[in-house]
Amino acid sequence: MSTGRTGTRGVVGEARAHEAAALHVTGRALYTDDVALHTPYVLHAHPVVAPHAHALVTRLDPQPAYDVPGVVRVLTGEDVPGVNDAGNKHDEPLFPTEVMFHGHAVAWVLGETLEAARIGALAVEVDYEPLPSVITVVEAIEQESFQGARPRMERGDLAAGFAASTHVFEGEIDFAGQEHFYLETHAALATIDDDGQVFLQSSTQHPTETQEIVAHVLGLASHQVTVQCLRMGGGFGGKEMQPHGYAAVAALGARLTGRPVRVRLTRQQDMTMSGKRHGFHASWKVGLDTDGRLQALDATLTSDGGWSLDLSEPVLSRALCHIDNAYWIPNIRVDGRVARTHKTSQTAFRGFGGPQGMLVIEDILGRVAPALGLTGHELRRRNFYVEGQATPYGQPVRHAERVLRAWDQVLTTADVEARRAEIEQANAASPHEKRGLALTPVKFGISFNFTSFNQAGALVHVYKDGSVLINHGGTEMGQGLHTKMLQVAATALGLPIDRVRLAPTRTDKVPNTSATAASSGADLNGAAVKDACDQILARLVPVRDKLGPTASWEDVVRTAYFDRIQLWAAGFYRTEGLSWDATTMRGEPFKYFAYGVAAAEVVVDGFTGGYRVQRVDIVHDVGDSLSPLVDIGQIEGGFVQGVGWLTLEDLRWDTSDGDHRGRLATQAASTYKLPSLSEMPPVMNVALLDRATEDGVVYGSKAVGEPPLMLAFAVREALREAVAAFGQPGTVVDLASPATPEAVWWAVERARGR
Ligand code: MTE
Ligand code: MOS
Repeated sequence: MSTGRTGTRGVVGEARAHEAAALHVTGRALYTDDVALHTPYVLHAHPVVAPHAHALVTRLDPQPAYDVPGVVRVLTGEDVPGVNDAGNKHDEPLFPTEVMFHGHAVAWVLGETLEAARIGALAVEVDYEPLPSVITVVEAIEQESFQGARPRMERGDLAAGFAASTHVFEGEIDFAGQEHFYLETHAALATIDDDGQVFLQSSTQHPTETQEIVAHVLGLASHQVTVQCLRMGGGFGGKEMQPHGYAAVAALGARLTGRPVRVRLTRQQDMTMSGKRHGFHASWKVGLDTDGRLQALDATLTSDGGWSLDLSEPVLSRALCHIDNAYWIPNIRVDGRVARTHKTSQTAFRGFGGPQGMLVIEDILGRVAPALGLTGHELRRRNFYVEGQATPYGQPVRHAERVLRAWDQVLTTADVEARRAEIEQANAASPHEKRGLALTPVKFGISFNFTSFNQAGALVHVYKDGSVLINHGGTEMGQGLHTKMLQVAATALGLPIDRVRLAPTRTDKVPNTSATAASSGADLNGAAVKDACDQILARLVPVRDKLGPTASWEDVVRTAYFDRIQLWAAGFYRTEGLSWDATTMRGEPFKYFAYGVAAAEVVVDGFTGGYRVQRVDIVHDVGDSLSPLVDIGQIEGGFVQGVGWLTLEDLRWDTSDGDHRGRLATQAASTYKLPSLSEMPPVMNVALLDRATEDGVVYGSKAVGEPPLMLAFAVREALREAVAAFGQPGTVVDLASPATPEAVWWAVERARGR
């Protein structure tokens, strides 16, 4: 098979626009709530939210709400026919009697208008008995407020590793989470059919789990609940576990009233009620030999889980599995634990703990390099994995040379050495403005750690006229999965892409799906789509033989129909060769690693701490790209989202002892700084790594959704270098995360010795 990127593999590999790009930019694309607003008799739902971080609900009287014109129904815990729980760990009461975070919904009001529901929600009378609360992860550590499993990952002999070290350092870092800020907030629309069955449209990355949780809440079987996801206006992991409760509220309301019910959160509700990326606290001790080679790492990672477990355990596992990033650490022990705090329940977010694990090692390397007399650049380079080495959990690092290949390519194409020399000169001549240029690598494991989730299904119909309709179990959130699936089907069947259409994701078409997550949507669903296409092609062989090589696809299909040959097929795929033991934290959980390298240059103003990212150069490994434009978009978008997490986005909760304790202070774009066009680097070069065919994955491709986010460490490390330039040579720089201008200013002050 050719590895060209320009259609030599059929439609796969062609640079195509996102399949819905025109709909997106003209506003014609339909999202869940667009459908809701065109649904007659729809009721609108509004939450009754608690003004305490932690409290008991001692009295809840819905009656006064019914005096509000337009209020139709108040939903409380007493209305739940099945299980009053919206999580898959059974620790998330949908209608809680114990408030666990500021803004927790204790009841929902349905109204003829949203305004009626809103006023009705204010009229519901609730009495609370406030309880002591734990807000920060440090408080949780002090009070030993933890939840869930406490994994330990270890290899080698830690004592021997430290004994072999000439340099030993210790430190701590407490770093922030991140708000998803998808453009489309959480939304669900439930309707009921003549038999009481529920049809849900939901903005969910995990339609099957939404279906299961709605069924549990309603006391129904799964076959009585169908979930459809048209598309999402972004998910980023925030819609992997978190949509279920909102869907359940809509479904419960629809069952009780017989009318369609719509839930759509405002931005403020979404930010105050839904989970975010986990912030972490890490304490570490590291040992390196005279040459700066890592000998030992002992670390404890504590994630801030918020009020319930949600996906905190698997997120923590992935953090542990990525603390090595691209570096060989022979002796290592990492302990992990999830803090329980009175905050929103933190959840999946692009990278799923991987970025947090990698931040720890990148921070360590950035901090200790000057003390070793090395640049961060050189220290990183000396510690790369080489072929034949394995990760701390025992997985061989196949294709390790790709990190070095990408690194060298960036060095050349970004002209790094010459620019560094030029920057050094410029910095020496400029007391108040300093520049920094740093390179960082990424190695990211692809597959769900939990082996069972690595399966997918598809349904491919060939109609008598030769047109093709495909369905698969993945969801579209802007990442271009549907575009790739159309390209896979067209290539597999040997058709032009306009002969193939894709129908919305639904649980009654493809059942028992996994979340579209872990970047594996295209790997898993692509292989399932291809399997279905291959089955159909195999059945058509006798017809082709009969009609001869000149027969058109349409002739073959028509003849096959009259020969009573099945023209549709269900495809299935499971990733082979995976193993994972969550108790020992050992195995080979990943099908492969995705690699990349970024170089970033920044300039820092010493008076204000303000900075700009001047130039970014990326080489990233996507295998043989299924869809290069989509992949480059994912790399650019992921990178910028990572820069936002590491440098701008600053989640603040009220930690005072006053009435607002536990309240999220940054509830809108006005107080939560997102990257925007003005922060975009003026120069951003993205190249896909050549000679990167990945065996055993659909058309030699690789997953792309999450790994590029972690390329953003280059910006953080470039900031560190620029800050160091304000001090004496060899200045060690501690940098907060996010490295906001304010944090950078403090770091500059420290570097100057003030
Ligand atoms: N890209 C866009 N535009 N919107 C998104 O919500 N989610 C990311 C990534 N890229 C996301 C995105 C996350 S968290 C994941 S896991 C992958 O896309 C999921 O899709 P995939 O498995 O098809 O790559
Ligand atoms: Mo992505 S965090 O795996 O949805």
